[in-house]
Amino acid sequence: MSVLNRILWILIVSLILLPILSHAQEPLEYIENLPNLHYEGSDTYQDGKIIILFTQRNNEIKFINTKLYLRIVFVNRTVLPIEINYNSFSFDFIPECDVNSFDCNILFTPKALIDGYVLIESRLGSSPYREIIVSWNGIMHKKFNLRDNYQVITSLDSQKEFLITEIKNATTLGCRRFTVLNSNNSNSTINEEIETFSISKNITMYQHSSFSLTEGGFATIIFSVTKSNDLIKLTEIHIRFFKSNNDLALSKQYLLYSSISGKFLTIIGGCQNTFDGSGYTFFFSDNDGTNLSLNDYFQIHFLSSGAVTLIDNKAFDGYNPDIINYYTAEIVPLFYGGYIGYDRFKLENSSIIIFDDNINVKGILNRTFNLDVNGLKAHIIQKQSLIWFIDYNNNNYNWMINFYNLNSIDIADSRYIYQNLNIQGTFPNINENIQIPSLTSSNSLDFIINYNKPILLSNGNLTIYQYLNESIISRQSVSGISELCKLVNDTAVYIKIFFSTLHQINVKYGIRIDNDFVKTSLNEEPLFGISEGIWNFKTCKF
Ligand SMILES: *[C@@H]1O[C@H](CO)[C@@H](O)[C@H](O)[C@H]1NC(C)=O
Ligand SMILES: *[C@@H]1O[C@H](CO)[C@@H](O)[C@H](O)[C@H]1NC(C)=O
Ligand SMILES: *[C@@H]1O[C@H](CO)[C@@H](O)[C@H](O)[C@H]1NC(C)=O
Ligand SMILES: *[C@@H]1O[C@H](CO)[C@@H](O)[C@H](O)[C@H]1NC(C)=O
Ligand SMILES: *[C@@H]1O[C@H](CO)[C@@H](O)[C@H](O)[C@H]1NC(C)=O
Ligand SMILES: *[C@@H]1O[C@H](CO)[C@@H](O)[C@H](O)[C@H]1NC(C)=O
Ligand SMILES: *[C@@H]1O[C@H](CO)[C@@H](O)[C@H](O)[C@H]1NC(C)=O
Ligand SMILES: *[C@@H]1O[C@H](CO)[C@@H](O)[C@H](O)[C@H]1NC(C)=O
Ligand SMILES: *[C@@H]1O[C@H](CO)[C@@H](O)[C@H](O)[C@H]1NC(C)=O
Ligand SMILES: *[C@@H]1O[C@H](CO)[C@@H](O)[C@H](O)[C@H]1NC(C)=O
Ligand SMILES: *[C@@H]1O[C@H](CO)[C@@H](O)[C@H](O)[C@H]1NC(C)=O
Repeated sequence: MSVLNRILWILIVSLILLPILSHAQEPLEYIENLPNLHYEGSDTYQDGKIIILFTQRNNEIKFINTKLYLRIVFVNRTVLPIEINYNSFSFDFIPECDVNSFDCNILFTPKALIDGYVLIESRLGSSPYREIIVSWNGIMHKKFNLRDNYQVITSLDSQKEFLITEIKNATTLGCRRFTVLNSNNSNSTINEEIETFSISKNITMYQHSSFSLTEGGFATIIFSVTKSNDLIKLTEIHIRFFKSNNDLALSKQYLLYSSISGKFLTIIGGCQNTFDGSGYTFFFSDNDGTNLSLNDYFQIHFLSSGAVTLIDNKAFDGYNPDIINYYTAEIVPLFYGGYIGYDRFKLENSSIIIFDDNINVKGILNRTFNLDVNGLKAHIIQKQSLIWFIDYNNNNYNWMINFYNLNSIDIADSRYIYQNLNIQGTFPNINENIQIPSLTSSNSLDFIINYNKPILLSNGNLTIYQYLNESIISRQSVSGISELCKLVNDTAVYIKIFFSTLHQINVKYGIRIDNDFVKTSLNEEPLFGISEGIWNFKTCKF
């Protein structure tokens, strides 16, 4: 950057560094009726439900009778208070401190699983100690002692499954698959299957990152090194796809990156995955050692076939004091594009920054906050383009959640309205009244989904359901490859819906679309669907 550019840049930055992030909605206030609650941590479910974890610590050193309380904040803003059944901790969930130690930092962190379940981790300082899985009725189902850097994966398409992966040793990956049985009953149980996979003998795994696949199943990205004479010769990144849920052994592994033909990598910080409708972007920070002021963010874009389509570096300039410093930042890609980042050392100076796709600063958030081990990521409601923070007042037992707009997309944009990166429009429109003729020559109606990129039909389902009091019932399911679906042009699909499906008048219906209902014809990547509760319509008499 030339001097002139630099001055211009500073000017621009100082002009736009006015807080442009505003409150998105009214804060949510909650009054606790329990004394001495200590805020521990939080996380956010995929659909925007918030988890807050409190403890009641009676003795900071020994944690005698420490109680754990969860608060689940639903999207409709009702709060579910949960007391974790203390008697079920019949194992050493809470680490013991050396009484003489000044450095006894016991922490607890919740992690969102699927609806109804939370993983709670206890920590001694920077290291995880034990983990438990509890359900929203306060019952503990599982307890573990997982390896550091274990990964929790929630399935994108199932409300009954989640996984935990961990590196067992240099050549073996362990996977625990959980299936919830009787999920509609308060006595639900969790079935656990444990499998291990041997990774190629030639590499030594040292870190991994697991995530769900759009078409179902999951994948694990493996960082590895090859050594000779104890010297690290080569860094490689592999991906292993576990696409078949029923047979995890049917997995395939591909090489995403090798330092033979690129730069040597030293991964620091966390890894992130995003799916943007044209493949996956794997995003992590790398220290190349040559310029300590630059946080070097590395991204690899790849397809579900394992093909790599782009390898790129994004440098977040640490020399700009208002932006991001080496080792101090967490950068999270946003669902609708752009990034959010912060600087751990400058929290009081309001340094949560929103970047656009080209890493230009779009805005900052002027507020103080206390980030916990889950970091910024746990506070982002990606599809609603919001970030939230809690303010807890120890004196009067109130807490308040403030929501802020991330401004990563226009709220009138159809991608925001459908919470889907690829929807251009639908018939019926959201909340439209459709007239059902009583007597007519036709017995069906064509629904339309128009995408913003060329598509092919695939095997995910479209399901029409009816709202019945507080619950819903399925009325018709149509697979993308059924004869009821046909492409009208490159980007739009017609779905034939029978009037008999919509037989009731003045009733609210909804349409859910599974992931992989269509693929994009550009590279055959499956596209995301539309979640329940978004695309609703009503019927009325003709
Ligand atoms: C809010 O959502 C939860 C979970 O879906 C539901 O149990 C509860 O009845 C809802 N509350 C209101 C007031 O709609
Ligand atoms: C790694 O773990 C697997 C399964 O637990 C075991 O079979 C294998 O011998 C171990 N390898 C090494 C090098 O310890
Ligand atoms: C749970 O719901 C399913 C259908 O939604 C039903 O078939 C099943 O019997 C229910 N299980 C229990 C234990 O109520
Ligand atoms: C749950 O289990 C308890 C005790 O086993 C039993 O009394 C209760 O009826 C069960 N509830 C349901 C919904 O099955
Ligand atoms: C492992 O290394 C050996 C010898 O270096 C080589 O012959 C073999 O092809 C390698 N295997 C894999 C899967 O890369
Ligand atoms: C590191 O990067 C900054 C920002 O681009 C640059 O000003 C500085 O000269 C670089 N330092 C070294 C040692 O290359
Ligand atoms: C916060 O900003 C003030 C004024 O610009 C500065 O003096 C202070 O050093 C900053 N604090 C940190 C931690 O960067
Ligand atoms: C940020 O908020 C603090 C406290 O509310 C206020 O004093 C400060 O002026 C704000 N900074 C900006 C840039 O608005
Ligand atoms: C689509 O729905 C049918 C019928 O409900 C079901 O059998 C099938 O497994 C579903 N397909 C997918 C890909 O989920
Ligand atoms: C819906 O709720 C009303 C009032 O609680 C009840 O009379 C009606 O039977 C319910 N309908 C169904 C289909 O459950
Ligand atoms: C494809 O069809 C849809 C639905 O009729 C329409 O909205 C869209 O404009 C059409 N696209 C093109 C490129 O003609």
